[in-house]
This record gives sequence, C-alpha cells and structure tokens, in this order.
Amino acid sequence: VCMIPAGGKLAPQRQLFEEMIMILDGKGSTRVWNDAGHEVTFEWGPGSMFAIPLNTWHQHYNLSGLEPAKFVSSTNSPPVINLYDDVDFVFNTPRDFPNCFNGEQDYFAAKKETKGLLLDTNFVPDVTTLPLISAAERGAGGGHIRFSMAKGSMNSHISEFPVATYKKGHRHGPGAHVIILSGEGYSLMWPEGEEPRRYEWKTGSLIIPPNLWFHQHFNTGSTPGRYLAFKHETVSIRNAQGVPKAWISRRIGGDQIDYADEKPMIRQLFADALTGSGVSPAMDAAYETELASLPPLPV
Ligand SMILES: [Fe+2]
Repeated sequence: VCMIPAGGKLAPQRQLFEEMIMILDGKGSTRVWNDAGHEVTFEWGPGSMFAIPLNTWHQHYNLSGLEPAKFVSSTNSPPVINLYDDVDFVFNTPRDFPNCFNGEQDYFAAKKETKGLLLDTNFVPDVTTLPLISAAERGAGGGHIRFSMAKGSMNSHISEFPVATYKKGHRHGPGAHVIILSGEGYSLMWPEGEEPRRYEWKTGSLIIPPNLWFHQHFNTGSTPGRYLAFKHETVSIRNAQGVPKAWISRRIGGDQIDYADEKPMIRQLFADALTGSGVSPAMDAAYETELASLPPLPV
C-alpha cells in the first residue's frame, strides 16, 4: 500500500516486473512513457484499477491539494528478483517492449468489450460498481469478470457472491491477493490434513491464501460480498488441457472441493455464523445444481 501526500507526486520508476494497481482513496493521474518518447497520461479516482506496462517509465501524481491519495498494488517482483538476483538490472534496464506499450493514446481508456468472462481493457474506472457477468463454476451463483491487463502474465478478477452463500473451497499456488471491496464474512484456510482456521473480513480487508492452502469464502453480511483478486501465476498448476486444477473437482484429480464432499463442520459453522442475522444459509440451490454435474466418487 502506498500513499501520495496531498499535492504530491512519486518519483518516476521503471521495472522488469509487472504491477497491478487499485486506487483506495483520492484522485490523481499517472504518466506512462517509454524510451522511444511515447507518452500517455490518464486520471483515476477511488476504485480505479490498471496495470503498468512492462518496463515503462511511470509516475503517479495526487491531483488534490487537500487529501492524500492511497493505492494498493500487487506485483510479480519476488520471482523476477529471485531469478536475476540483480536489482540494478530489474530497475535500470533501458529496453522498451513495444508489443506491451507503444504510446497508444487510448491505452488506458475504459473499454467495454467482453470475451466470455474476460473484459478486454487496461483500465477500469471503478471496480466497486463495475457490472459483472453471471458465473457458476466456483459455486453459489453470483457474478464474475476477469482481466488480463497491459498484455501481462499477471491476471485478476472480480467475484461477487450473494447474501448467505459461500464459495467452494479450493487451493492453488502462491501470490493471490484478495481485496474485499464490499460485504462482510469470513474465510476458512487450511493446509492439507489440518483443521480449517477462521479469518474474519470486511470491506478493505486483504486476504492472501498461503501456497497450496485450501481456502473458502463465506458471506455472513447483509449485502453481496465482492472481492478483487490480483494473481501472479509463476507456478501455475494446470491439467494437461491447461485448465487450472483449482477449478477442477478433487473427484477427478483437481484442487476444488465439491460442496458434496465438504466436512459437516463447514456447513454447521456457516449456519452458526448466520445465527442472529435474520437469515439462514441460502445454499440449497447451489448444492442441488452441483449434483447435476458432480463426477462420481473415485473407486
Ligand atoms: Fe483462490
């Protein structure tokens, strides 16, 4: 998390790793340019999200003289710095990547075209109000939208799930940063073979499931739960067809736990957590829908 003081700006920087940014507070602008002299400046406000094209120079400005601006960013710097073990190389290499950025004047325009669940844009004005696309594969209905910004390898998505529901548990590699945009609830996280541990969240919380820990998100609030996840998948665990194992049932070798296979304590804990809220778990439709496509248990 980084703060730009009122009326201030950050130093220009370039880097050979990717960076995705979400604005938490304030209004400002970012200038992006390359060694060839191409330059684009765009403005942002609370909830804006964008990515810095690889190795471009960039500089952030706070356009308010009264209020500080604050952003959260996620990068794939750890594997890149570990790989080259040379910080000067990572931060001071004069090399443009014109395939990523070549000064296109609409580069940071808010585009609206979707391809399946993917929104093909390098800038979102406000992730908290962006319309989502209905999606079912992670369980319990709700909405979803994905991004692959600045032609990078990092990806991100927004997911929203209804009141009194919870997602399927799954696990994957390290580097997923889950930012709660609205709602309240808790997540269970646990390494294989251990008991689930419970972590409460609300708007503004950040959850980072550790490498290969199972995790499962539960909405106990009175509004839909919406989160933004930034991910770098340097170690992506996929099947032979390239599908992330985190989306595939454990019954057929994947890393997602079907509702039908979760421990009874998971459902009990959720019912207990809703006690006193005036609602009871709204999961029956999700359990029912799952049965239609549930693979048989392995013999
Ligand atoms: Fe996950």
